[in-house]
Amino acid sequence: MLTDTDRREIERLWTRKLDQDAKKLPQAERHRNLEPDSAELLCVLVERLKARRVVEIGGSSGISTIALAAALRGTEGRLTSIEIEPQRQAEAKATLARLGLQSHVEFILGDAAKVLPSLAAQDFVLLDCEKDDYVRFYEMLPLARAAIVVADNVLSHDLTAYQAHVRAKADSVTLPVGKGLELTRPR
Ligand SMILES: C[S@@+](CC[C@H](N)C(=O)[O-])C[C@H]1O[C@@H](n2cnc3c(N)ncnc32)[C@H](O)[C@@H]1O
Repeated sequence: MLTDTDRREIERLWTRKLDQDAKKLPQAERHRNLEPDSAELLCVLVERLKARRVVEIGGSSGISTIALAAALRGTEGRLTSIEIEPQRQAEAKATLARLGLQSHVEFILGDAAKVLPSLAAQDFVLLDCEKDDYVRFYEMLPLARAAIVVADNVLSHDLTAYQAHVRAKADSVTLPVGKGLELTRPR
């Protein structure tokens, strides 16, 4: 469950992102983060599904990391947070430590393409990286039997190729939350 303190951190990160967008900073200086509403939903899903092995591809500065790790509070569950950009991950690490959530997270710095083959089967996956990689990474995911895969940005970006790909082999639905979440249950 997200605590008030978790929510304040999410709000702080989100407000900064909106401020950077409003100032039209160069893309490299802007943080790309998950919407707070999406974070709330992910936290509830992971908690109520009782997911124990959770992975996110694209942790960035950590809104989704807070949400997924908070769902694992008081459980043996573990989040693997994969991020390719060192500064973003360093910030997420510091935030999660401040929230007392670091023991639930293994931070891996690197390209998900290289990390995914070494992971055990996962119960819950968040895809939130470059959109061109979604299909490729979906195919690389080690999934447990009842796994759920959530992909962000399906309403803000053209991800019809990804949606068609997963719908050909899985049950999948678009949730109009935040920038659009594709929730997929492999058959
Ligand atoms: C939209 S942001 C993620 C936002 C984050 N989930 C949050 O809630 O704040 C996308 C992130 O994916 C990372 N990324 C892109 N390609 C990657 C890859 N191949 N492996 C790991 N991380 C990657 C980027 O560096 C960027 O920080």
